[in-house]
Order: sequence, then structure tokens, then C-alpha cells
Amino acid sequence: MLQRPRRNRKSAVIRDMIQETRLDASNLIFPLFIVDGQNQKTEVKSMPGIYRYSIDNLLKEVESCLKLGLRSFDLFPNIEESLKDKYATESYRDGSLYLRAIAAVKKNFPEACIVTDVAMDPYSSDGHDGIVENGEILNDETLEVLGKMALAHAQSGADIIAPSDMMDGRIGYIRELLDHNGFTNVSLMSYTAKYASAYYGPFRDALGSAPKHGDKKTYQMNPANAKEALIEAQLDAQEGADFLMVKPGLPYLDIVKLLADNFDLPIAVYNVSGEYAMLKAAIQNGWLDERVILETLLSFRRAGATAILSYHSKEVLEKGFISHSTI
Ligand code: PBG
Repeated sequence: MLQRPRRNRKSAVIRDMIQETRLDASNLIFPLFIVDGQNQKTEVKSMPGIYRYSIDNLLKEVESCLKLGLRSFDLFPNIEESLKDKYATESYRDGSLYLRAIAAVKKNFPEACIVTDVAMDPYSSDGHDGIVENGEILNDETLEVLGKMALAHAQSGADIIAPSDMMDGRIGYIRELLDHNGFTNVSLMSYTAKYASAYYGPFRDALGSAPKHGDKKTYQMNPANAKEALIEAQLDAQEGADFLMVKPGLPYLDIVKLLADNFDLPIAVYNVSGEYAMLKAAIQNGWLDERVILETLLSFRRAGATAILSYHSKEVLEKGFISHSTI
């Protein structure tokens, strides 16, 4: 035998030397849930170890993440039912919870990278990502709301705006609006291929944002489709996206690879709430070893993603599974 692949596996030094993909803190974006009030920190039942924070505690959480070398955060608000309406006006109201949270993190930790979520669902009395009229989601009317929201995020200090709504044309619409208002440096991370997935359940529990009627199949993608992701990616690239995101992650690794192979833009992936819940439940039951977390995160790097949104972001650093980079 001239070729013995096992020779390259014989010691830790050699295994490390030939390792093809790596993961470190710089790849990770940590999603954080926020809620109004003071001194709040309540665990999301279906996501052990993940909490909703009031702004004071959010700042403490961000600080402890920064100490671990985790520098990017994606914020999601839990909005009181009484503040929701058909047009999600709370999403861009001056002084709203979300805008205050962005400004507070930016002011206290200018070195942190703040990703903000643009979509109507946390603020919509219908629980949908667009304006609902007679059971239909109105695309172009929704763009106006998304634009106001994105502009308010930029004005509050967002570094990257991530539209997660899946309306057609929103990347170009938001890009133009931001540029027109002097925010040429604010980036757009597009949820390019976002599937109508059952893996979002725990997230909707965390925010209380489940649709009040119907489902999201007229705007989120059919889980059976891959080529359609190329159409979405092409449009987002043309419209000025800085990142292309695939969501969920693990069940859609082929889509991550497809976009990574066909586009030069950086690829992001969202390792969503249901994926987190699955691993946590199995680990808590002693059915899986917690090393599955790192193996899962590495699979995203292998498929071609550079940015990984994951609820595991902090724990992999705390537990020393991956290296702490210094700020
Ligand atoms: C909605 C949105 C969702 C997530 C992020 N933004 C869920 C949905 O479409 O209902 C899911 C994230 C997760 O499950 O972790 N704009």
C-alpha cells in the first residue's frame, strides 16, 4: 500500500496540521432576546440556557460575551401584545424597546458588532412578516414598513441590518433608503434562503411571535427546493446585499454549499432555535455527548459559511471548545 490515509491521523499534532476548516469566536454571532422592564432574566422554556433580558441585564450579558471574545450580537425583541398592531408601528417608534436596546449596547460597547432584525412579526398583531389584508400578505406596502424599521435601526447604531421577512425587493429598497439617508456604511445581511420551517417553534415561543392565523408559506421557501435559492441569491446580490444567509442551518447544509460555490459574497447560516432545542434536550437526557455542538458548528464552516448565528455561541467559548480570540 503506497497510500495509507491513517498516517495523517496518527497524532494530534498532525491531525491539527492538516485540519481543513476551523472555527473561532470571530465566526460566531450570538442571538439575544430582549424584553421591557428592569432586572429581567427569564429562561425560554424550550431553549435551556437561553434567556430574555431587560436592557440592564442585556448590557451585562454583552459584557461577559465580549470578555470571551464573542463580539457580534443579533437582537430580537419580545413585544407586549398591547403594543402590536396591523402595521407594526412599534418597530420604528422613537423610544421603543428595540431602538433603546441598540443604542444602549452601542454606547456602552462601541467595539461590539450589532446585527438587527428587520421583519414585522414581533410587532404585528397578525404575527406575520408582512401587512395582512383579507388573508393576503401585501408585498410592496410591507416594504415601506421595513424601510422605516431599517432606517430607525441605522439611526440607533446598527452595524449590520438583517431583513428576515422574505418580501420581494426588500434588499434593494432598504439599500437605497439607507444610502439616501447617509448610511452607506451600514451593511445588509440578507436572509436569502429562508425556509418555511417547523424548526422556528422555540423562537416564536421566546418572542410570542407565532402567526395568529395561516402559515408563512407564501413568503418563506418550500423546504423541497434548492434551485429557488439561487434565484433569491442572485436578486440579493444584484440589490446590494453584503452577506447571503441560509436558514435553518443543519437541514439545509446543501443550500449553504450551493450558495458558497456560486457566489463570492460571504455566506451566513442561522443555526435556529429548534436545532438548539434538539441538541440541548438530547444532551440533558444524557443521550448525546455535548461534543455534538462543536461538530454541528464545524459542519457549517465545512459547507462554506463564514458567519454562524447560533445560540451555542457563548457556551462553546465558556466551555473552552473553541479558542478565545482577544479583542
Ligand atoms: C422572523 C424570524 C424567525 C426567526 C428569526 N426571524 C422565525 C419566523 O420566521 O417565524 C427564527 C430564528 C430561530 O428559530 O432561531 N422574522
